[in-house]
Amino acid sequence: MASEKITRVGVIGAGQMGAGIAEVCARAHTDVLVYEATRELAAAGRARILRSLDRGVSSGKLTEREREQASWRLRFTSDLGDFADRQLVCEAIVEDEEVKTEIFRALDKVITDPNAVLSSNTSSIPIMKLGMATEHAERVVGMHFFNPVPVLPLVELVTTLMTSPEVAERAENFAHDVLGKQVIRSADRSGFIVNALLVPYLLSGIRMVESGFATVEDIDKGMVLGCAHPMGPLKLTDLVGLDTVKAIADKMYEEFKEPLYSPPPLLLRMVEAGRLGKKSGHGFYQYP
Ligand code: CAA
Ligand code: NAD
Repeated sequence: MASEKITRVGVIGAGQMGAGIAEVCARAHTDVLVYEATRELAAAGRARILRSLDRGVSSGKLTEREREQASWRLRFTSDLGDFADRQLVCEAIVEDEEVKTEIFRALDKVITDPNAVLSSNTSSIPIMKLGMATEHAERVVGMHFFNPVPVLPLVELVTTLMTSPEVAERAENFAHDVLGKQVIRSADRSGFIVNALLVPYLLSGIRMVESGFATVEDIDKGMVLGCAHPMGPLKLTDLVGLDTVKAIADKMYEEFKEPLYSPPPLLLRMVEAGRLGKKSGHGFYQYP
């Protein structure tokens, strides 16, 4: 039997990426159920999405009515059991293999649709590890969105040795036809395509600061004005989150054992100090 069109999506986590994924799905007319572990986190996630929808209205990309309708399509829960009827789940919680593995194991038991797609937005954890935590590794893929999700038009689709071609096609069609994203395909190696290039660059920027070679501002200015990047490596590290950049670097180093992926001590110290970037108000820059 051909699989039904995806109209019921689940999003796990409403941090900056989960909120963005939930928002673009709701704007694309799908019914979205979002998981956060507590009511407080769910309220913060909802507020994050509403702020971004407001921004869409003030920049003229959304009408008031579209914003209202998108917000009605979003529901929150702290019970994974509520995901039973989801046709696609996008997992977007913290970059931690144990936490993600636990979620995949639990979701696999709950979801009833035999054609359901289970995807992860991980930046660096091999998708096979998440697939093998389930009893249906054939339905597990990586759908890697980019930050900010409502703005950046890319999804990296990551298939494993076990992913079925039908599941990969279903995920690709949803990202492209429903969400309007461009899709590139990557095999399952830590960092996939984009982070394999981006992460060593971000870490090099941090090493430059660490060695006193140049200031944060001048390094960023160099890449913005000299290479037409929208933001320099240190501001981008602040946007991604220093904890997330560290977790990605750790995973890529674990996979390849290449010094270029090893997180520099300055990054470790800043994470230990709680300087996580834009989300904590302080990273390489301070945020109001
Ligand atoms: N949500 C919704 N819309 C947003 C937004 C958000 N969080 N942030 C910006 N926008 C929109 C704004 O509304 C604005 O739209 P209009 O042009 O229609 O008004 C547009 O994006 C530009 O925003 P701003 O004018 O406020 O700011 P800007 O021009 O400085 O752009 C930026 C901000 C989009 C973040 C831009 O600087 C940028 O693209 N930076 C690079 C981001 C990047 O490289 N991301 C990849 C990170 S790596 C990753 O995602 C993978 C991983 O695994 C770590
Ligand atoms: P974030 O810090 O903004 O949000 C983290 C989310 O994980 C929140 O929903 C939080 O409630 C949840 N969480 C934290 N600890 C948890 C735990 N122990 N159990 C269950 N939930 C927990 O992070 P983010 O930037 O949204 O990143 C989420 C995922 O997306 C990560 O896998 C990251 O690698 C990936 N990603 C991030 C970016 C980026 O630029 N930040 C880009 C692409 C992909």
